[in-house]
Amino acid sequence: MSVQKHPKSPVTINTLQKMKREGEKFTCLTAYDYCSAYSVSANGVEVILVGDSLGMVIQGHDSSLPVTVEDVAYHMRCVKRGNQGSLLMADMPFMSYHNDHQTLENCAILMREGAQMVKLEGGGWLADFTRLLVQHGIPVCAHMGLTPQSVNHLGGYRVQGRNPDQAQEMIDEALVLQDAGAGIILLECVPTTLGAEITQALEVPVIGIGAGPDTDGQIMVWHDLLGLYPGRPAKFVKNFLKDEQGGVQAAIARYVSAVKQSRFPAPEHCYT
Ligand code: KIV
Repeated sequence: MSVQKHPKSPVTINTLQKMKREGEKFTCLTAYDYCSAYSVSANGVEVILVGDSLGMVIQGHDSSLPVTVEDVAYHMRCVKRGNQGSLLMADMPFMSYHNDHQTLENCAILMREGAQMVKLEGGGWLADFTRLLVQHGIPVCAHMGLTPQSVNHLGGYRVQGRNPDQAQEMIDEALVLQDAGAGIILLECVPTTLGAEITQALEVPVIGIGAGPDTDGQIMVWHDLLGLYPGRPAKFVKNFLKDEQGGVQAAIARYVSAVKQSRFPAPEHCYT
C-alpha cells in the first residue's frame, strides 16, 4: 500500500472546534480494521468512528442491536494500529449505558483500547451520563435524530424531526446536551433545515449523516462510500468509487474534497 502518512498533527476535539469557528468543514468515516483505518487517516479524514454499524456491515446482522462492547473493543484495537492521527471515536453499543457504573466501566474498556471519545445514542436523557463521563475525562458525542439502536421503538429507519414540535424538541435537547458537556452532536436523518438550525444554535461541532450540507462535518459508513453493502442504499449515501478511477484511495480523497468544498451532500442526498 503506498499512501502518505497523515499530513497534519493528530486531530483533537480542539481541532474540530477551531474548524467550526473558522467555517472549515471536516470529514468522518467509519473503519473497523487496520488497513481501512490506515487509508482513511492517511487521506486526511479528521475522525474515525468504530461504529456499531459493524453489526450490519461486518457481522451481517439486520441491525446494530447484537453488537457488544467486546466487539467494538476488538475493532478499536485493530483501528488504533492503523490510525495515522485521526480522532478515534467508539460507539457505545445497545444497552451498554443503562446505569452509571456500567456506563463508566464500558467506556473505560473502549478508552483503554484507544478510543479518544465515545458516542451514545439518545436525546436529553443522556445529559446525566454525559456530565458523569466528562467529569471522568471521557469526551462524549451525542447521536440524535434517527438513533438506530431504537429502530424497534421508532418503527423503522425513518427521518426524524419532520414536524415542528419534534424539531423544536430536538433543538432544545441538543442545547441541554451541549450544556451537560457533550463535545460533539451527531445528527442522523433529519431535514436539511433542522440540521442547519441545530448547527447554528450550538457552539460545539455538529456532524451530519443525512442531515443536509450545513452541518460542520459529515460522516459516512466505509462500506457505503465504496458501494460494498448489498441492497438499496439510503438516500444520503453516495458511492465514491463507482464509475471513477484511482481505486479506494482516490474514492476517500474524493469524499474528503467533496465535503470540504460543500459538494457533498448534494440535494439528492438530503431530506426536506
Ligand atoms: O454506527 C455507525 O456507523 C454510526 C454512523 C452511521 C453515524 O453511528
